[in-house]
Amino acid sequence: MKLSFAPLAAALFLTAIAPASAGPDQDSVLTYFQQRADSAASPERGKSLFEARHGGGKPQTPSCTSCHGGTPSETGKTRAGKEIAPMALSRTPQRFSDLKKVEKWFRRNCNSVLGRECTAQEKSDFLAFMMSQ
Ligand code: HEC
Repeated sequence: MKLSFAPLAAALFLTAIAPASAGPDQDSVLTYFQQRADSAASPERGKSLFEARHGGGKPQTPSCTSCHGGTPSETGKTRAGKEIAPMALSRTPQRFSDLKKVEKWFRRNCNSVLGRECTAQEKSDFLAFMMSQ
């Protein structure tokens, strides 16, 4: 039930919230995580994940915003001072189009911030939020 419903939910959801900027590559990346998540992606939860100060990770990076800028449309900065293009899909249209890249950075960044990998639910929420921005 869960597995057969999730892709449909993701498709309906994308049509509902991200028609303007998400293309087929982003659609399939979000669908990949949606199929592995327990419930439909929530942009509100994604926003909280992005903004919250978490415990458990490295003290220098308590939040996604430690590197990515205070809002999705701001340019961020790595700890070494290199610029990171905004995460909002409307600002950086090539974002979230390559599953391997997305997985690699989720793994690295969730470990730095949360001290663990993000769940498929957290990843779908985060992507849904950024694709709506
Ligand atoms: C230590 C700095 C740092 C922190 C903290 C950080 N990131 Fe990142 N993130 C980066 C860098 C550097 C990149 C790769 C450069 C780029 O994509 O512009 C990146 C890329 C990503 C990507 C891939 C984007 C794409 O275009 O496919 C995702 C997804 C991501 N980060 C999610 C997160 C999440 C979720 C958090 C918080 C749990 C977080 N990041 C915290 C530095 C960071």
